[in-house]
Amino acid sequence: MPSWLKNAVFYEIYPQSYYDTNGDGIGDINGITEKLDYIKFLGFNALWLNPCYVSPFMDAGYDVEDYCKVAPRYGTNEALYNLFEQAHNRGMHVILDLVPGHTSDQHPWFKQSRLPTKNEMTDRYTWTDCVWNRPPEYSWVAGMSDRDGCFLINFFNSQPALNYGFNEITHPEWQMSYTDPRAQATFDAMLEVMRFWLDRGCDGFRVDMADSLVKNDEEKTATASLWRRARKMLDESYPEAMLISEWCNAPRSVNNAGFHCDFLLNHQYKMTHYGFRYWENGVNKSYFCKTAHVSAHNMLSKYLDELYQIQGNGYISVISGNHDTERISYMLDESELRLAYTMLLTLPGVPFFYYGDEIGMRYIPQQSKEGGFHRTGSRTPMQWDNSLPNLGFSTADASKLYLQVDDQPNAPTAVQCQANPDSLLNLVKKLNAIRSENEDLQADGQMKILVCDDNGVLAYLRGEHTAVVFNPTDKAQTTTLNVQQELFKIGSYTVKDGITTLESQTAVIFKI
Ligand code: GLC
Ligand code: CA
Repeated sequence: MPSWLKNAVFYEIYPQSYYDTNGDGIGDINGITEKLDYIKFLGFNALWLNPCYVSPFMDAGYDVEDYCKVAPRYGTNEALYNLFEQAHNRGMHVILDLVPGHTSDQHPWFKQSRLPTKNEMTDRYTWTDCVWNRPPEYSWVAGMSDRDGCFLINFFNSQPALNYGFNEITHPEWQMSYTDPRAQATFDAMLEVMRFWLDRGCDGFRVDMADSLVKNDEEKTATASLWRRARKMLDESYPEAMLISEWCNAPRSVNNAGFHCDFLLNHQYKMTHYGFRYWENGVNKSYFCKTAHVSAHNMLSKYLDELYQIQGNGYISVISGNHDTERISYMLDESELRLAYTMLLTLPGVPFFYYGDEIGMRYIPQQSKEGGFHRTGSRTPMQWDNSLPNLGFSTADASKLYLQVDDQPNAPTAVQCQANPDSLLNLVKKLNAIRSENEDLQADGQMKILVCDDNGVLAYLRGEHTAVVFNPTDKAQTTTLNVQQELFKIGSYTVKDGITTLESQTAVIFKI
């Protein structure tokens, strides 16, 4: 287990939209490097970058054309190595996005695989044996090349699935076992990609659709066996490198497949603004919605169930949101966000913040860009300051931007939030500081529910001596829990005769 994970708090960056240093209207690697001090100032000590590799960008870079080359629009490999180094100089870590399930249809492997004559890449992807053979239980693309067969896709049509074989063979005429050397060779190629970046200073990977590799793998045992090979490689050669999966089933990912962390979200289903399970409860029924008055039970049950199953083996990562979800501010207003962030940063495991959530950036519904569709609204440029025309994101003419910046006159900016002691940004900074000074609140500290009432009061113990209590509702609520030795609070409370009254929208971190 990489030692730095104990106290890691991640910041996810969508490179297109963070900071443009050369005035071409699109964010770049040097822009991230320039903002490292800002990120560190907030108390984040680790970064996850969405894919920044050469790509035709039919899915914002999740359609990789070259796994080992930075897309020219973001800069060069050297710029990325420099980012690793500058981050390390500040005690920070950087992980990249590994997309093992599929490539772009422009990847040289695929261009070779689709040739009608047999060659080294023929089995790098999964093809049926005849263009008319399209078993309905899979998603196929037919008739795009002279090779007689259809290729299996993993996401969009432009993302052919890499071939890791099948666990259960139902069509022996074209399926191969996951143990077949041709299928195992695909994973070897992915291990090589990992070594390439790890040897150049990268600290690990967020693994895209990590559960999707072997097909017909109901219980995911075959897919897990592949990832255990990756973990073995890390343990032997890169013991401080981390692997976090987009699997969304921590017992399988952590206990069976050897990931250090798994995200708690819901990528299997159509995403809605409450589609990440941690905050999920129904429209206007989120635990943090002040008028909802619901017990925290629904929100926490899956999380706690998984947490207790994986304890000691790895971590669960809760998120403020990501590049696939509507921004959390779409669902919660600022007063509600303050309590949600307090929970996010006081749970066990490794929390992730999505860029801009620290200033409460908006979800802005708009036309799709690069395969984003409804996700595009969460991918707009970071709002740095109040300068025109692009709120400090880029000096390019607004018409040249990757996406337009928020055009509302009251759009929050980092500079504004830094100057306001009561801003969300300063709350996040304070919470990160408390977490980093208090081992109980970090990844390993236990979590035990102390109170989970129907009136909305929730309290949990972290580690041996630190507790957190919430009343997210718009009314005062009481609890018999004795709130004392406060470390941090939002709102206010009084304690009298063994009863604590928590005023509306109150959260307290205290010693017990
Ligand atoms: C993951 C990514 C998403 C991408 C998809 C296909 O869910 O987070 O952005 O479109 O995988 O790679
Ligand atoms: Ca740029």
